[in-house]
Amino acid sequence: MAEKKPVTDLTASEAEAELARLAAAIRHHDRLYYQDDAPEVSDAEYDSLRRRNEAIEARFPSLVRPDSPSGRVGAEPAAGFSKVRHSVPMLSLGNAFDDQDVEEFFARCRRFLGRGKDDPLEIVAEPKIDGLSINLRYEGGKFVQGATRGDGSEGEDVTQNLRTLGDIPAEIAGGAPDILEVRGEVYMTKSDFAALNARQAEAEAKLFANPRNAAAGSLRQLDRRITTSRPLRFFGYAWGEVSAPLAETHWDFLQRLRDWGFPVNPLARRCSNPAETLAFYREVEEQRPGLDYDIDGVVYKVDRLDLQARLGFVSRAPRWAIAHKFPAEQARTVLEKIDIQVGRTGALTPVAHLKPVNVGGVMVSRATLHNPDEIARKDIREGDTVIVQRAGDVIPQVVEVVLEARPEGSQPYVFPDTCPCALRTPVVHEDGEVVARCTGELACPFQQVEKLIHFVSRDAFDIEGLGQKQVAEFFERGLIKTPADIFDLAERDKTSLTPLRNVKGWGAKSAENLFEAIERRRTIGLDRFIYALGIRQVGQATAKLLARHYDGLASWHAAMRQLSEERQAAPGAAKPEEIGPTYSEICNINTIGTAVADEIAAFFGESHNLGIVEELERRLSVVPVETPQATSSPVAGKTVVFTGSLETMSRPEAKARAEALGAKVAGSVSGKTDYVVVGADAGSKAAKAEALGVTMLSEQEWLDLIDERA
Ligand code: IVH
Repeated sequence: MAEKKPVTDLTASEAEAELARLAAAIRHHDRLYYQDDAPEVSDAEYDSLRRRNEAIEARFPSLVRPDSPSGRVGAEPAAGFSKVRHSVPMLSLGNAFDDQDVEEFFARCRRFLGRGKDDPLEIVAEPKIDGLSINLRYEGGKFVQGATRGDGSEGEDVTQNLRTLGDIPAEIAGGAPDILEVRGEVYMTKSDFAALNARQAEAEAKLFANPRNAAAGSLRQLDRRITTSRPLRFFGYAWGEVSAPLAETHWDFLQRLRDWGFPVNPLARRCSNPAETLAFYREVEEQRPGLDYDIDGVVYKVDRLDLQARLGFVSRAPRWAIAHKFPAEQARTVLEKIDIQVGRTGALTPVAHLKPVNVGGVMVSRATLHNPDEIARKDIREGDTVIVQRAGDVIPQVVEVVLEARPEGSQPYVFPDTCPCALRTPVVHEDGEVVARCTGELACPFQQVEKLIHFVSRDAFDIEGLGQKQVAEFFERGLIKTPADIFDLAERDKTSLTPLRNVKGWGAKSAENLFEAIERRRTIGLDRFIYALGIRQVGQATAKLLARHYDGLASWHAAMRQLSEERQAAPGAAKPEEIGPTYSEICNINTIGTAVADEIAAFFGESHNLGIVEELERRLSVVPVETPQATSSPVAGKTVVFTGSLETMSRPEAKARAEALGAKVAGSVSGKTDYVVVGADAGSKAAKAEALGVTMLSEQEWLDLIDERA
C-alpha cells in the first residue's frame, strides 16, 4: 500500500471512511485487550490508531462519529460477573512518546492554569504498572467491593477474588474517610508468572502470553479457588469516590495510602521541572529489566490536588496527568510460514508463524501481518529472518526483515487471490481499503461462522454458553447455518438422533443451561438486534442511534427497506437529498453519514439478508429502546462565546467547564449564540453581540449562572 496519507491531505469523504475504519479497529482491539485478555497489536500501534483518529477528528470536527473512540475507554464488561457502576468514572491516560510530547504536556498545564514558563509546577512521577486497574471500595474502613475498570463507567464485581490478595487490606486503620475508593493496579510478578506457566505446562493447560494476561485471567476467574492459587499483587496510585478530602497533594495522598497499609510503588518521586522528570524516566528505563514486575512507562501527575481539580478532564483522560511510554521490546527470529485467517466481513488477515523466540521475557511464535500491503511494503517473505516486537502485552508484530540474512533464491510472498475456504472464492481489494476480502459473503463458511460468532457475542445477543468454540462446533455439525437456527436448536434437539446431552463435552445440565440461555434472549432490545446483524460500519453506537430514532422494529425495518430502494433507484447520486427522503433522514441522525447509509442500503438490498432478518423477526420479540434524558444543567445545549480576558480562569479552563456542563463553546458570535461572556478589554465580539441582541454576561454573572463562586 502507499504510505498512509497525511491527515492534512485527506478529503472529507476519505476522512469519513477512515474514521469509520478506525472506530471499528479500535473497538476490535479494545475488546481483545479488555475482555478477551488477548490483544493482537502492540500498545504503540494501538496508540497510533488512536492518535490518527484524534488528528482526523481535530481536522474534521463535523465528522466525529457517535461511536468515536475518543470518548470511550476500554470495553464493556464480560458476562459472568455482576456489573458495578463506578460512582466516579475510571479513566485512561493520554500518552507521550518522546521528550517533546512531555515538554508539551507541561506547557499545556501551565497555559491552562495561566502560569508563566518558569513558574514552578511540582510533578509526581511513578512507574506505569502493566497490570489491570481496579477500584477498591471501603465503607467505615471495611473493604466492601472491588471492581475492574470495564468500559470506565461499568466494571465487573470481583470482590471475592480480590479478598484473596494479601496486598489488599480487609480493614483499614482509623483516620480514613467513611467512604474511600482506592484505585490501583493488580499485577503478577515476572517470577510468579514464570512459575505459573511452568505449572500450566505440566498440567497441559493453557499458557499465558505474559504477566498482564495471567493477572487479568486469574482475577476474572469465576472459580475463586483458582484465583487463590495464583499470586496477585497490588499497587495503589489513585482514588475514586471519597467522602472527605484525602490530602492537598498527590505526594501526601501516596503517603496516606502507605499508612493505611496499601503497597505504593517505592520508585515514585516528586520532581519540580520537566528536566527532572525526564531524568527520572531514564533512570527507571535502566532499572526496568531488573524489576520483578512489568512496567510500560512512567506516569507524570500534577502534584497539587487543587490544580488537578482545575485542570480537569478531556473526554477519556485527565489533563493533569500523562503516561510517558517506553519503546517496545524486540527480538530476532525466523518467519517460517504465512497463514491467512478470514474474519466476519471476509477480511483476510495474514499471520506469521515464527520460530519461537523470547521477546522481553515472553515466548512468541505468531505475529500479525495486518494486510497484504503491509507484507508488500516490508517485503516480508517466508523463510526470512525478521525483527519482531511486543510492547508489554500483545500479539507481536514484524517490524522489519533482516535483509542480510535472507536465504538465497527466496521469492516475494504472493498474496492468495482466492479465499482459503473450500469455495476458493476470489479475493478483492476494494477501493480505498487496505484489506483483502473474500467475495463469498454468506457462501464462505469462514465468514458464516464469524458472523454467527458476532451474532451471539457480548454486545449483541450475549448468549451464555454459546461462544466461539460452540458456534464453530454447531456449524460444523450442520445444526446452525443462520442466526435464526439458534432459536430452533432446542426444538430440533427434542427429535434429534443425537441430542446435545449425549454429545461429547456436553451433558444434560449444560445442554439445558444453553437452551435456557437462548430462550432468555428471545426478547431483545432493538439496538442489540441491529448490531447483531453485523452490517458493515454499523457498530454498537450506530445501532443505538438507529434504534432510538425509530419507535420499534416494524418502523425501523420498513425504513431500512425504503432506504435501500431509494439508493438502488439513484445509483449515481451523491447528495442525500437527491437520493431520497428516507436516505437523507438517516444521514441526518446525529453523525450517521453516507458511508453508513450506503452499507445499510447494500445489506437490505440482498435478498439473503432480508431472509435472515425476517426469519429472526418471526422467532423473536424485539423491543424498542428508551431515549436518555437530556442533562439538567442551566446551560446544557446552549451556545456560549467567551471574549476578552477573564479574571478567575484561563480561556481553555472556562471552555472546559462550560462543556462539562453540556454547553457548546463557539469561537464567534452569531444569531445562534445564546450567551456572550464578556471579560476585560473585549473587542469586536462584544460589539457584535450587542448588535445582534445576544444576552451578554459578565464573568461573575456567568459564574452565578453556573452556580460557581469565584
Ligand atoms: S493514574 C485518571 N498511575 O494505566 C487516571 N495509572 O493508561 C488514573 N496505570 O487506567 C490513572 N500505572 O490502569 C495511573 N502509576 C499509575 C499507573 C496507572 C498503571 C494504568 C491504569 C490506567 C492506565 C492508563
